[in-house]
Amino acid sequence: MSDTIRAAVIGHPIKHSKSPIIHGHWIAQYGLNGSYEAIDIAPEDLPARIAQLAADGYAGFNVTIPHKEAIFKLCDEVDEKARLIGAVNTVKIEHGKLYGTNTDAFGFIENIKQDAPGFHFARGPAVVIGAGGAARAVVYGLLQEGVPHITITNRTRDKAEAIAAMAPGKISVVDWADRNGALKNAALVVNTTALGMTGKDPLDLSLGFAPDDALVTDIVYVPLITDLLRQAKIKQLQYVTGIGMLLHQARPAFHLWFGVMPQVDDALREKVLA
Ligand code: ATR
Repeated sequence: MSDTIRAAVIGHPIKHSKSPIIHGHWIAQYGLNGSYEAIDIAPEDLPARIAQLAADGYAGFNVTIPHKEAIFKLCDEVDEKARLIGAVNTVKIEHGKLYGTNTDAFGFIENIKQDAPGFHFARGPAVVIGAGGAARAVVYGLLQEGVPHITITNRTRDKAEAIAAMAPGKISVVDWADRNGALKNAALVVNTTALGMTGKDPLDLSLGFAPDDALVTDIVYVPLITDLLRQAKIKQLQYVTGIGMLLHQARPAFHLWFGVMPQVDDALREKVLA
């Protein structure tokens, strides 16, 4: 048991997390002596419980709602990526010290690379819908991939302006009222809001102006084919579903703890969607 590499996901609530399925699949697939569990931690208990995980010899953990910002201050070091994105979703524990990073941008980009291998990020501008935490990770990833220009449109304009400050001159902001027209020259359209998710409000966006060669993607994966993706389908635009972002963001974390860079295969997709 002492040789078992232990990792976990922490959140509150945590029982709906798909992360144990994903990491459990890879632990079995690669024949590793490891474990990955879901641990419910209430916000007020976070500092003490984190210290206990380190004392218990955990290799690290994923962080989900509501701890992504609070964990920031509890890390001994946070890398540049997580600082720019403004959230830590993965922690590696080494010699009792906590190192924070963020794998969401990687997950977003790798999902498109796997599902739309012919797509080139440098080909044209991207339009990002929304300006919450997920938008920051998406924008960071797009900038890394050399997207020539990004337009952000968000109900609250100030939040879009704050993200635009990540790359002055490369990112412009369009009023929420003008969002449909903003798609006119888009090579890529990304919904980063939770709108369109089962139980949430619909996303009020028309792909009418989107060019015929635009790629459309959604970070929402429940339902897998959101209304936005259904519109893309009807307009015969290429689209990528959101489930792969969840799967791919788990890969660098698994690599940090277990030393193997895992792959996303159909068996894993089926398990997580079941
Ligand atoms: P996160 O957890 O990613 O930070 P968030 O802060 O809840 O999520 O923001 C999600 C995004 O959905 C935001 O861009 C938010 O717009 P605001 O910045 O104006 O709040 C957007 N959003 C949520 N509900 C919305 C709605 N009914 N209409 C338009 N945008 C909405």
